[in-house]
Amino acid sequence: MQDFIAMFVRWAHVVAGISWIGSSFYFMWLDATLKRRANMPDSVKGENWTVHGGGFYHTQKYLVAPEAMPNDLHWFKWESYATWLTGAVLLAVVYWWGAELYLLDPAKADLSAWQGIALSAGGLVGGWFVYDLLCRSPLARQPMVLFAVLFALITLTAYAYGLVFSGRAAFLQTGAMMATAMTGNVFLIIIPNQKIVVADLIAGRTPDPKYGQIAKLRSTHNNYLTLPVIFLMLSNHYPVVFGHPQGWALVALVLIMGAVVRHWFNTYETGAKGAQIAWQWPSAAALAAAIIAFAMIPVSSVAPVQTASASIDGTVEVNERLDALAFEIVEARCAACHHDTPTFAGIPVAPGGVALHTPELMRRYADQIYAQSVATQAMPLGNVTGMTDDERAVLAAWLKR
Ligand code: HEC
Repeated sequence: MQDFIAMFVRWAHVVAGISWIGSSFYFMWLDATLKRRANMPDSVKGENWTVHGGGFYHTQKYLVAPEAMPNDLHWFKWESYATWLTGAVLLAVVYWWGAELYLLDPAKADLSAWQGIALSAGGLVGGWFVYDLLCRSPLARQPMVLFAVLFALITLTAYAYGLVFSGRAAFLQTGAMMATAMTGNVFLIIIPNQKIVVADLIAGRTPDPKYGQIAKLRSTHNNYLTLPVIFLMLSNHYPVVFGHPQGWALVALVLIMGAVVRHWFNTYETGAKGAQIAWQWPSAAALAAAIIAFAMIPVSSVAPVQTASASIDGTVEVNERLDALAFEIVEARCAACHHDTPTFAGIPVAPGGVALHTPELMRRYADQIYAQSVATQAMPLGNVTGMTDDERAVLAAWLKR
């Protein structure tokens, strides 16, 4: 049942996220491409012509407001709210309902499911308050300093959750906290401020320009957080990324890489040329290379592996013993879930279609076994079956042959 709910909620979440990010990219682009023409009224900042789906669109942006407020003004807010709401449900279904498997890592911290859930939910709420306070503090007058502080805090968040949660949960929690701040910006700051401005205009008052400045700061944050958040959301499918013992360092690199790529689009769309748009892609590529290189550095947990494989001399008997031993381990630690007919409660079918209950199947999925339980400790999930480092070392030796 959990799987079906997760599937439908994930579907809704991805669709909502596409509409949110899509409309937000569209408006960023629209803003950047507006052109002023000579005979325009002062209240119009610029206009833009587009063609799409068989028709031509003519958009004008009013910086302050049109002379008469249209009664059918369209607001873009449900894209954001729906993304957050479906995301919160998905987090609850996968990581809270399945806390023992997905959220917790007994090797890191001895938490009960409820403690883990409290830390996760508390982080979403607490993260927003810390962020909001910073944006209201005098720091807001120095956006670059504020950026640096936020960067440090996000990295610290990834580090702190990495100490108590499974790798994938630490990545996801960090992304979910950033995304919560983004929707919080829309729900609690940008839209309410816009409503004040609209009400002022309708009443014939001149709106305080501070509302526009506040909204600008928050929407700039949202803009630069978008790509890193999506990376963190997707990372939980890749143990090569979330399984790294210093995952927080990867998060820091991803933050910079995502922001640099976003910066290219923001600059390019204004029509900038030359050096202004030349440095971002090479820097992003260098950062991507750094991320891959860092993720591939042999991790400390591999140390026992080398000792074990050094003592294997490759004779036939040893190889046979090793086969038998590796099979025994996988049968004991993995096959309760990874089986044609899993016996583990709540696992109706072999996860990812990967069944491991025969030596042939083990050989077929050898690379995946390596990725999930030797190179990283992503499997067994939450180490519920209590796999030891020595057993991982034996698997490593078996895989090495
Ligand atoms: C408690 C049940 C459980 C145990 C025990 C377990 N796994 Fe998994 N495994 C899962 C689940 C659930 C997934 C899907 C995770 C996801 O959604 O990303 C998975 C995913 C995987 C995948 C990726 C499948 C894909 O989608 O390509 C591999 C490979 C894997 N496990 C190997 C192992 C190995 C090797 C062991 C033993 C060392 C093991 N697992 C133990 C539940 C388990």
